[in-house]
Order: sequence, then C-alpha cells, then structure tokens
Amino acid sequence: MQITFGASAPDECDLIAQVVNQGETPVGLEGALVEGAQASRFTGKPGQVFEGFATRDDVTVRLALVGMGEPDAKNRHANLEKAGASLAAKYLRSGVKKMALNLSGAGLSADQAAAVLLGLRLRCWRHDVYRTKLADDKKATLESVTVTASPEGTEAAWEEHAAIAEGAEFTRMLVAEPANKVYPVSFVEKCAAVFQGTGAELTVLDEDVMEQLGMGALLGVGQGSRQPSRLLAIRWNGGGSEAPTVFVGKGVTFDTGGISLKPGAGMEDMKWDMGGAGAVAGGMLALVKRKAKANVVGVVGLVENMPDGNAQRPGDVVTSMSGQTIEVINTDAEGRLVLCDALHWAQEKFAPKRIIDFATLTGAMIIALGHEHGGLFANDDDLADDLLQAGKDSGDKLWRMPIGPAYDKLIDSPIADIKNVGPRGAGSITAAQFLHRFIKNGTAWAHCDIAGMVWADKPGATWDKGATGYGARLIDRFVANTLEG
Ligand code: BES
Ligand code: MN
Ligand code: ZN
Repeated sequence: MQITFGASAPDECDLIAQVVNQGETPVGLEGALVEGAQASRFTGKPGQVFEGFATRDDVTVRLALVGMGEPDAKNRHANLEKAGASLAAKYLRSGVKKMALNLSGAGLSADQAAAVLLGLRLRCWRHDVYRTKLADDKKATLESVTVTASPEGTEAAWEEHAAIAEGAEFTRMLVAEPANKVYPVSFVEKCAAVFQGTGAELTVLDEDVMEQLGMGALLGVGQGSRQPSRLLAIRWNGGGSEAPTVFVGKGVTFDTGGISLKPGAGMEDMKWDMGGAGAVAGGMLALVKRKAKANVVGVVGLVENMPDGNAQRPGDVVTSMSGQTIEVINTDAEGRLVLCDALHWAQEKFAPKRIIDFATLTGAMIIALGHEHGGLFANDDDLADDLLQAGKDSGDKLWRMPIGPAYDKLIDSPIADIKNVGPRGAGSITAAQFLHRFIKNGTAWAHCDIAGMVWADKPGATWDKGATGYGARLIDRFVANTLEG
C-alpha cells in the first residue's frame, strides 16, 4: 500500500474517505449522507466508520466517514491512529484499490494528520509470503491512499512517520518469520540488507571471536544448536560527541528450553523469542531512516536454544565475559545468559550513558501484566520515567516493577557466583536481578520484559493478530523525547 499526496482524488478512485470529529457535523457533504450517518448512529467515535454513496461530477462514488473522537481528547493521538487503522482494517481486503483521504476539516495539525496515516499504514501490514493458495477474496486489494487535503506540513511530518512505520514493520517481519528462516546468521543478513547504505555501522562477532572474548554464558546457550551464534551491533552516530545510549535485545531465534525441554503444546510460539532483538533492530531502523540527532547503538545476542548431545546440562557452570561464574540450574532460563554477555560487551565497547534491554524473558511477566504493558525494571528513576512516558506517547506501554537486594539474594548459588533461576515466586524480578549483576556501578540501566507484547492472538489498535512490532516505536519515541527533545 502506497501513501501519496495529490491535489485531487485519483482517476478510478474507488473510495473517498473523510475524517470527522466526534459530535461535529461534516461540512460540505450531501444532506442524504449526513442524514444517513445520523440514522445509523454514526457519531464520530474514534475509529467508527460510516459508508454511503454520493454523486460527484455526475459519477456515483463510494464514500466513508471515519470518526476521530473528540478534538480535545487526552488520548487524541491514539484516537487518530485508531481512525486510520480502522479504515485500513475495513478496506484492505474490501475490493477497494484506490482510496482518496481528505484530512481537512477536523482541525488537525500536520503531526496529527501524520498519526492518522501511520495508523492506516501499520494496520495494512501483513505477512503473506508463505501463502500460495490465498483465495481471491482474502487477498489485499488496497494499493494506494491519496491524501487530497491535509494541513500544511503533513508531507514532511509523514516522512518521519514513514520511517517509524518502516522500523515497526521490520520488527514484525523478523518476529513473524519462522525459526527455519530467521536464525542467527540470517537475522544478521536481513539487518545488513536493510541498513545497507544508510550510514549505520554494523559489527558482527562470530563464535571464535566471542570465545576469545570469554562469552561463555551466551555460547553455552547456543552450543546445542547446529546454527552458529552471533552478536550484532548496529551503530548510529547522529548526535555529536555524547556517549551513546545502547539498546540490547534478546535474540533467541528458537527456544525449545534446551535439555530442560519445554512441553510440546504451544512450543511453536518460541519462534518469537527473538522479539527483543527484533524490537532493537526495528527501533534502530526507524532512527536511522529518519536520521535521528542522537548517538545510539543496538546490540543483539543471537542464539538458538536446542537439546542435543552437545547441549549444556542443568547444573553446568559457565564463565561469563564479566568473569562472574553462573550455575545453569535450568537451561530454559537462557535469555538472561545471552543478555549478560551482550550487556557486558556493550558496556566495555561503547561506555554508554545509559543501557536499556528488551527481552521476551519470562512467562511470569505475562502472568503479572498480561498483554497490556511490558514490565519495566530500572536502577535509575529518571530513566524509568522517560521510558514510561515514551511508552504512553508511542502506545507501546510499560509498567514499572520493583527490584532490590532482597530479591537479589534469591539467586546466590552454592557453587558459583550466581544461579540462573530463583524460587518460584517473583520470576520476572529475579530475572531482572540477574541482569542487574552485569551492569557496572554508575551506569543507568533499564530492562523491559516484553514477553506478553510481541505477539497477539487477536487484532489490536494498529495491528492484526500476529507480530505486533512492539518496541520499535517505544525506542524511537524514547530517543526523540530524551535525546533529541
Ligand atoms: N522465552 C521464555 C519466556 C517466555 C515464555 C516468553 C512464554 C513468552 C512466552 C524464557 O526463555 C523462559 O523459558 N523462561 C522460563 C524461566 C524459568 C525457567 C525460570 C519461564 O518463564 O518459564
Ligand atoms: Mn527459555
Ligand atoms: Zn527464551
């Protein structure tokens, strides 16, 4: 689907859509349409759509009114995205090929107009690459949306928003692809392809290099897999000489649990156990594509967790790059083993001002927060507040959870410095405490456990069921608010 800007509706336009604020009567519309909308209880609620027909220049055209909610609503931005998204959901497969969209008349700013378009574009995304027998009436038909009247500056605002959409779509693609397509080496290749020529600098560590660096924790997870592990760093220097902000992602391209094997039912979900890495890669893509004025690095630890004759065993002790030894009680608590080496390496290599990790780390996080918020853990209140705000602004919401010494004690090991699981209670918190032990004194750190957020069983505001793209927009917004603001 293409979004373009034009003076008037394109030839052979199948549908004209018009934005309408809640409680306002659309101006310049035929009386029959206005009455029809009223009769069918169209009030302009966010995302509500009314469809009718009208005669324009002697031809009958299909016309849609889409509700934007109240102009002074606190969540105006989310409502505008929802309005765009509901047009997409309704017309993507409807037979409509060319849509004209009139964004004037609702008092929108350029940025608000772009929010409508962002919602529309994001809700159009699908991953149909493996469907060879899709019935004709299930295929997407919507080819183009021509924005015919929009507030001044909308085109420029849309350029920035299109970069954000690209980032979120890259995240979704990585998350949606199965594990026989996205594995550590191919994850790196896909990144190399999209970042080619953008000015971002990519560094790839293979197993030999990681071995030399002493990354025994990360390598231990990957040692049962035929797929070699990788560490990838994506660096963007758009902000002068300030120390960078580093984002770190868990990239377990498939998590069987290893020797502590997971039950079979639902195991296919573990193809999206690289959702943290996907969020970081997509967030970086958004920043790079819109040429963010900030110094940022994305680091992703990429491994596959498999049971095998060479797999690590429960009870094994591994030495991490930091020098700390870890007793691997449960090989299914592998994300923290990957992250601890990625976090340590990132701190050594980039001396970051702040470091923020994203991971589908614990099932316990889903028990606690469901699919509404990611869990946020932090050693720095300002960083936590900035992330919470970015969550509200972007729609990728977070909720803060506690950490502290009493939880930290629970992962002391009788044989090594630390063990990789605690008792049954507070599983998401002890996982965060584990990561905290690998953060250098004085470095601001936050951990986002996004296990409940990267995949959806039902459609949401701007996504269909499947990969949500969670995290890419959060990263983009955090950087815009905190580093560029
Ligand atoms: N990738 C899982 C966490 C997960 C589970 C994400 C379900 C999304 C849905 C992680 O590697 C894991 O297996 N965690 C264990 C930790 C336990 C062994 C301490 C878990 O949550 O059960
Ligand atoms: Mn696991
Ligand atoms: Zn996992």
